[in-house]
Amino acid sequence: MSSVDYCLPPSIKRAIAAWVAKFPKGRQSSAVIMALRLLQQAEGPLQDHHLSAVAAHLDMPMIQVESVFRFYSMFYQQSVGKHVFKVCNSVSCYLRDSEAILSHLEKRLGVARNGITDDGLFTIQETECLGACCQAPCMVVNDSTYHYDLTPEKMDALIDQFKQEAG
Ligand code: FES
Repeated sequence: MSSVDYCLPPSIKRAIAAWVAKFPKGRQSSAVIMALRLLQQAEGPLQDHHLSAVAAHLDMPMIQVESVFRFYSMFYQQSVGKHVFKVCNSVSCYLRDSEAILSHLEKRLGVARNGITDDGLFTIQETECLGACCQAPCMVVNDSTYHYDLTPEKMDALIDQFKQEAG
């Protein structure tokens, strides 16, 4: 879809307005992270027309929206599975064998990093330090739930749980 044809849905505009109201007048661009997050939750991976619409709506340069979008790993341009396992592979986790966790996940799920499993349930990603180095190796699932001191057994239990929940 071209940027010209796309308009933010009214429900998203209302939700963004609630965030804009939290910032001082004229600082509406401070709501950009939440605007992108809300839009991604509603419409899935974000494309250029989404970013342009957010830039226009918040009256900020497109380059600033793109910078935010590319900086944060919680934003996606490609489709991902229902459950995204972001495994930290920075130094503390790496020294505690995060690479073995990533390899185990790839083998168990039969999918490479950044791919989606055939059932659409899982995506594995590497990420930078999650700020939980003292409990390395660690990961965050769906950008909300942290898991610490990872082992292949813990990974298997979590996968089994998500599969069971999916039916
Ligand atoms: S290095 Fe993995 S959480 Fe900091």
